[in-house]
Amino acid sequence: MSKALSGYRILDFTHVQSGPACTQLLAWFGADVIKVERAGEGDVTRSQLRDIPEADSLYFTMLNGNKRSITLNTKNQKGKAVLEKLIKECDVLVENFAPGALDRMGFSWERIQELNPKMIMASVKGFGPGPYENCKVYENVAQCAGGAASTTGFDDGPPLVTGAQIGDTGTGMHLALGIMAALIQRQTTGRGQRVLAAMQDAVLNLCRVKLRDQQRLDRTGVMKEYPQYPDTPFGEAVPRAGNASGGGQPGSVLKCKGWETDPNAYIYFIAQAPVWEAICKVIGKEEWLADPEYATPATRLPHLKSIFATVEEWTKTKTKFEVMDILNEFDIPCGPILSMKEIAEEQSLRDTGTIVEVDHPVRGKYLTVGNPIKLSDSPTEVTRSPLLGEHNEEVLSQLGYSSADIADLRSEGVIS
Ligand code: COA
Repeated sequence: MSKALSGYRILDFTHVQSGPACTQLLAWFGADVIKVERAGEGDVTRSQLRDIPEADSLYFTMLNGNKRSITLNTKNQKGKAVLEKLIKECDVLVENFAPGALDRMGFSWERIQELNPKMIMASVKGFGPGPYENCKVYENVAQCAGGAASTTGFDDGPPLVTGAQIGDTGTGMHLALGIMAALIQRQTTGRGQRVLAAMQDAVLNLCRVKLRDQQRLDRTGVMKEYPQYPDTPFGEAVPRAGNASGGGQPGSVLKCKGWETDPNAYIYFIAQAPVWEAICKVIGKEEWLADPEYATPATRLPHLKSIFATVEEWTKTKTKFEVMDILNEFDIPCGPILSMKEIAEEQSLRDTGTIVEVDHPVRGKYLTVGNPIKLSDSPTEVTRSPLLGEHNEEVLSQLGYSSADIADLRSEGVIS
């Protein structure tokens, strides 16, 4: 069966997380992704956070499925010649080196266009043009520079980074979308183009609602759905809102049965206006229905803390799954706080291919997150990550190198 990106060839010059997350997605959609790694050591994540000696780490294996791997010293003349051939043969080059690294290697955008005018060159960088454009950036730097950290956490605590890798994988997803748009435009122009996704920009895009709130704060000096209201004065910048809902419907994390010993015995509860009557009835507070202080979303805002505390008295008598079942009967939006252990064991995520078990020749079976985007005509089949240089012979012979040429490249350390 054909796949959405069958026939497209990606020169994957990525490492660590942001770039590899992008190219893995393209591979799941059917592109032939050729990962070019440093001869000898490969992507640094192969050996980072190792849980099994000598086996590629989960960090690497979970970001590089469905790819082919070749090793190549691209600072060596013969290595550069191989890279030139690859540039001529591929549709897209994806890279996330430090700023300027590709130019120093001799592959500027101008040079790449000379080699292949149809080439789409897609880059992740920490920052776009400006004062920080030459900086090296990792996940948490992007979360801090993109507005996520200053708006995450509690009012009386320091800025917090989130476990979701919005700077790395988040930027990789933005880059993948840019690549798709450039491939579609190439069909009419016949030309390639540069695609840039800066990590600060991607995080800010995901923090759009906080820039919305900054402007509301500038105009009115107060945001009534924030937990600061009505007791704590607002400052000049959007404050950290704890677990308050980011949207127009108030919400909070509430304790459930077992919270004293289980760090995840909590539920996220949303006091959605259309189901207010059902909420009052379910938790046994019918008297709120006749009370003008609780009659509308606006009149309830100053009472949110006590409303959530009252609902919590009810949720504390039930497990998070019991709360989920009861509230969903009345269409009251809520969600259990699921631990990674619970998610890993969730059968429905296995059934949809969102969590997949893969077999690896060195590490054995491991779990990975499969393709979160489902296409009806392009099903994803997740395969294991490649060993370092596993496809050297295969790729080089496809490029026209003979067995003797390949042996020479190996003996000279150009490949390993
Ligand atoms: N053969 C020979 N040399 C190679 C090579 C190959 N196959 N692949 C990479 N290299 C070289 C590069 O040319 C570079 O050399 P130079 O510094 O002499 O120009 C060198 O390896 C190191 O690359 P660099 O990207 O600087 O790696 P780093 O480990 O020092 O920095 C990052 C890592 C992630 C901080 C940096 O790459 C970066 O800021 N990337 C952009 C933002 C990003 O994606 N961050 C998130 C990562 S998840």
